Amino acid sequence: MWKFFRNKENINDTSIISVNMNNIPKHIGIIMDGNGRWAKEKNLPRTMGHKAGVETIRDIVKECSTLGVKYLTLYAFSTENWKRPSQEVNALMNLLVEYLKKELDELHNNNVIINTIGNIKKLPSVCQKELKDAFEKTKNNSGLVLNLALNYGGRDEILRAIKSMYKDLQEGKIIIDNIDDEVFSTYLYTANMPDVDLIIRPSGEQRISNFLLWQSAYAEFWYSDIKWPDFKKEHLHKAIYDYQNRDRRFGGVKHK
Ligand code: IPE
Ligand code: IPE
Ligand code: MG
Repeated sequence: MWKFFRNKENINDTSIISVNMNNIPKHIGIIMDGNGRWAKEKNLPRTMGHKAGVETIRDIVKECSTLGVKYLTLYAFSTENWKRPSQEVNALMNLLVEYLKKELDELHNNNVIINTIGNIKKLPSVCQKELKDAFEKTKNNSGLVLNLALNYGGRDEILRAIKSMYKDLQEGKIIIDNIDDEVFSTYLYTANMPDVDLIIRPSGEQRISNFLLWQSAYAEFWYSDIKWPDFKKEHLHKAIYDYQNRDRRFGGVKHK
């Protein structure tokens, strides 16, 4: 089955793109970048950019649900983002609380399961409380898994996995010869989730910034100069369309 959308990646482009509903990426990751620059362009404080970015989250989560994406991982706060001025860090934490308070009912009604990756124990307790409520409320849903990457870093995740695997080795719960990709994956925050298929990064940057390092081994990347607050569902459609027109070989040979 195909769905047809207007192609708006380029503002002058009025062509129609077709999304194959039978080949929707199972797992999409988005590095939600460019909030600060979006605000700067408008002579607004950076925090206004973050506020505008939350509006985009609402629309994109909804569209991913509609399209039947199963996992959506949103990079919201990295292990390195603590380096930012404390005022900005606080504003981001407050926005998270506000988002959950405001959106939880609708997310729940849309059958979304809320999950996080990253060390959330380091977040302010008010954030942890809202997250706990969100996990509890949505845990029996069966729709999109909204995976919020909070205090997340790919290196931190891998180190944490190694430490906990080492402990299991010492305790004899696993044996070294049995450790393979699959076993290692079970020690990651994303245990039981498929690897990310498509990583979207708006804002013009073309780097991974410590996002899903292990899981992105064969992910397709999609970049755009558009800044996250201006990212619309049309950009998502275009990213999925481009994804569907690539040949994923996984190291094998071209089969098209
Ligand atoms: C992304 O926007 C949001 C977070 C990292 C939390 P930025 O704040 O990084 O925006 P730019 O990159 O400065 O424009
Ligand atoms: C990546 O964006 C982190 C998030 C979007 C949460 P950054 O803005 O922190 O990354 P760099 O500094 O440009 O690499
Ligand atoms: Mg940035």
